[in-house]
Formats: sequence, C-alpha cells, structure tokens
Amino acid sequence: MDASQRYRLSNGVEIPCIGYGTAPLNEAIGQEMPVGIDEALVCGYRLIDTAWAYKNEAYLGAAIRRSGIDRKELFVTSKCSNRFRGYEQALACFKESLDLLRLEYLDLYLIHWPAKDGPPEQWQKLNSETWRALETLYKDGYVRAIGVSNFWPHHLEPLMEHAEIPPMVLQLEYHPGYIQAEPVAFARAHGMIVEGWSPLGTGKLLNNETLLEIGKNYNKSPAQVILNWCVNTGVIPLPKSHNEARILQNIDIFDFKMSEDDMSTLSNMEYIGGSGWTPDSITW
Ligand code: A2P
Repeated sequence: MDASQRYRLSNGVEIPCIGYGTAPLNEAIGQEMPVGIDEALVCGYRLIDTAWAYKNEAYLGAAIRRSGIDRKELFVTSKCSNRFRGYEQALACFKESLDLLRLEYLDLYLIHWPAKDGPPEQWQKLNSETWRALETLYKDGYVRAIGVSNFWPHHLEPLMEHAEIPPMVLQLEYHPGYIQAEPVAFARAHGMIVEGWSPLGTGKLLNNETLLEIGKNYNKSPAQVILNWCVNTGVIPLPKSHNEARILQNIDIFDFKMSEDDMSTLSNMEYIGGSGWTPDSITW
C-alpha cells in the first residue's frame, strides 16, 4: 500500500487512502491564512478536507491553483455547516463554499454535524431536508459523492429511511482509544467508506509510552504508528499539522508493516484523550 492507493466508493468514485485535515488548530482559530495546505500538496496529499466552518476555503482554492496539480488528481471535500440546516440553506452553504474555493465541483460534500435539538421528529426532518439538498447537488453534478460527518447510527437510520441516495462516506473522530466500533460497523454494513478526523487524538496520543515503544520496533514516531494502524484498519486518516516536517512525516507511513500484536494493542487501547466532542454534545 502507498499514498496513491484509493478506495472505491459505492458509486464507483475513487477516494485516496489518506488525506490532509484543515480544521483550524487552536493557535490558528480566526486566522484567514492557515499554513500547511501548500506543503501538504507538495508532500503528496491528494485528499484535502475542509468545511464552510473552517473559514479557509478561499485560501485552499488559491493553494490548489498555485500548486498546478491537475484538478482531476485532487479529491476536495467540504461540509455543510450547522448554521445552514434545511434544503434551501444547505444549497446556499454549498454555493458559498464553491464560490470561495472557486472550483467547478467538489469530490465529496458532507453534512458536518447532525441536527439533534428538540423532539426526534423535528431534528430527523431537518437532517433529511439537508440531505435532500446534498442529493440535488449530486444529481446536478456539483459533487461526485455525498456523505455525513459525526453521525451515529441513531442519526443515520432515520436519514437513510427517507434518503433517495444513501450516504457514501461517514467521517468521524477515530484514533486509538476511540475507535467508535459501533458507528464504523454500521457504516460499513451500509456500504460507506469511513474517514477518521483527529487520528492523532488531537495530539494527545503522541507522548504515549506504549506508542513510543511500538514505534521503536519500526523506527517510526507514534504519529506514524497511529496513521499506519489507521490505514490498515481501512479508515482514511485526516491528520492535521502546520509543520512541514510533520506533514511529510504523516504521509511517510507506508514502508512498514506492524505485527498483529502491535495492531491489536492500538485497536484495544484505553481512551486517553481526544476532542471530547460528540454528535450529542455539539450544540452550535
Ligand atoms: P503541529 O501542527 O505542530 O504538527 P489531530 O490531527 O489528531 O487533531 O492532531 C493534530 C495535532 O497533532 C496538532 O497539534 C499537530 O501539531 C500535532 N501533530 C501532527 N502531526 C504530528 C507529528 N507527526 N508529530 C507530532 N505532533 C504532530
């Protein structure tokens, strides 16, 4: 396996096996010019994950043009913000993103977080209305694939009941200590490819003794061990870094194979920290 490997989504579209996450790191919140995107493109990342809420789409679009990389080689994802739930609103959110990116289409468009306020009929209907907008964008050729982010089975089931087109991707927080086994199994059983955000546990796993020890077996850093584990569990990792050396390190993960014991240690780690955000705790 190497960084150029792609999975096939249920509609036949191919998605890279690793991506670059652009959610603002704490020190960069509010900055208009996130560092890292140009470097990621140079280092070989072809999947770039953004969102309306990250406020970096104009910068990302400019970085793509600067890179000179053929648009067809890239896989650009954005997400419909919580501020734009509902059919017309979601279409408006998408238009803003596309205008900011100055692209003609996106490869993947996701609902960022499920609605969940009020009685179930209310938020389920709202999620279905948002989904209907994504279906329209897909049918009209503005997006090559559609999916959801941070949905758990109890959000996905009602959405799928009313969907004309089933979600092709589930993106969720995924790292050792937080493997979200139930949503991942549910997504796979329904033909979705899974992407993992904050695969490094928002950085909280990087000084972990067990990971440092396992890394010594392969002469790799804890981050590389985690990302190798992630791709080998079939989940697309979306690591974030603003540091050129670490951006490169995070894609240099395909030249070693971990033992079954080491893989199993990572899959069975205790929770030692992550974002703390869950679909049921996000209210914005
Ligand atoms: P930095 O930008 O200084 O590299 P996650 O993707 O799980 O949310 O983790 C992001 C955090 O992990 C950031 O704080 C980032 O900081 C740090 N990070 C990313 N890659 C590495 C790496 N290879 N080694 C150490 N820290 C890393």
